[in-house]
Amino acid sequence: MGESVLTAGAEPGFRRENGELVCDGVSLGLIAADVGTPVYVYSAASIKSQFEKLSSVLAEVPHRLHYSVKANSNLAILGQLRRHGAGVDVVSGGEMYRAQSAGFKGSDIVFSGVGKTERELIEALALGVLLINVESEDELTLLDQVAGRLGVAAPVALRVNPEVMVDTPHPYTRTGGKGMKFGIPFDETLIVAQRALGMKHIRLIGIDMHVGSQISQFEPYEIGLARLMQLWHEIGASGASDLRYLDIGGGLAVSYDAGHAVDIDGFAAVVRRMVPPGEVKLILEPGRFLVGNAGILLTRVLYRKRSGGKNFIIVDAGMNDLIRPSHYNAYHRLEAVNPTGARTTADVVGPVCESGDFLGLHRDIDDVQPGELMAVHSAGAYGFVMSSNYNSRPRVAEVLVDKGRYGMVTEREQYSDLVRKERLEPEWRSAE
Ligand SMILES: Cc1ncc(COP(=O)(O)O)c(C=O)c1O
Repeated sequence: MGESVLTAGAEPGFRRENGELVCDGVSLGLIAADVGTPVYVYSAASIKSQFEKLSSVLAEVPHRLHYSVKANSNLAILGQLRRHGAGVDVVSGGEMYRAQSAGFKGSDIVFSGVGKTERELIEALALGVLLINVESEDELTLLDQVAGRLGVAAPVALRVNPEVMVDTPHPYTRTGGKGMKFGIPFDETLIVAQRALGMKHIRLIGIDMHVGSQISQFEPYEIGLARLMQLWHEIGASGASDLRYLDIGGGLAVSYDAGHAVDIDGFAAVVRRMVPPGEVKLILEPGRFLVGNAGILLTRVLYRKRSGGKNFIIVDAGMNDLIRPSHYNAYHRLEAVNPTGARTTADVVGPVCESGDFLGLHRDIDDVQPGELMAVHSAGAYGFVMSSNYNSRPRVAEVLVDKGRYGMVTEREQYSDLVRKERLEPEWRSAE
């Protein structure tokens, strides 16, 4: 198969029409005028295209894409992916609630996460989820007890830490290395599996890994898959007769600088080589790959200033709206919606009272002036979901563009939302 070399311009989503940056033909200027800024804007066509691309390269392998809800948990996006045929991967009771609200059934849901509470395990069992990816022996023991109380058998995959080094852009996006909090250490998994096989209310039906995020070289998948298949056979030889799900997590990269897309044909070739045909049902948990490039954060320039010999562009979006630059030192391409051709070098910063509040440092950038719009590209994954009310800034709106129309899918918070759960006077309770 040929290499997938895709540039942002050839894809659905964000491109220039008559000089203006638009989203699938819809004017970003119009959206900003209507719903205000900052605002996240998503392209439904881009999400669909990513979903179809990944599904088609894996067509020969029995599989299901379980979208990783944490990447972008907006109900409209969940609903769209459900209609495309996706299942979901959730990591909390809250995400499970969202998935149900978007129409997913228990059998569509894989429940991952290193610290599931008893309440969450009960909720997952009551809902009849497809798989609970168990990350420790303690969790397995609790799950066995909870399932016993409910009179059900818990469908379990063991999340293995395959102990592979992953070269991701930031250490915080590596999860499959030795000594990390995630998964059961590789050399202990067989013993835990044998214990699981002896538990009355556990049905061991899969194994799982997630090696990291923003991965563009596939060696970690290859090594991880080899380890998982080794365990698969060892666990089978220990008496597991019901193993069927091989969950290889998420992690596929997107391009943050409009460069080459990840080579998903190469990824699929690794999967085909490593996964024996017929024996297993493959589960993938892509998040970023499906939605990362499908969204931008649209922001308006408030002020320009010079300080210490540097230019600053102060915009109305801050680190509370998009924390990736500050938290992961992540690069996001920044562009004027209506560039004039003039360029400058500047730090693009937000209004939050933190020196770490920036969207880009020392950027060669369009010489945007106060009042003009800028796009922060590739903000569809781990953008809005990681936003907060820090500095008592209301969370921003989200807009979906589909088939030449746009619609608000999250309303902008109001000041009153900031204090909705608070009390000016505590409801005092006696400590006796
Ligand atoms: C268990 C698990 N699955 C899937 C994902 C999704 O990763 P990505 O968005 O890189 O595809 C994550 C992200 O951290 C994860 O922890």
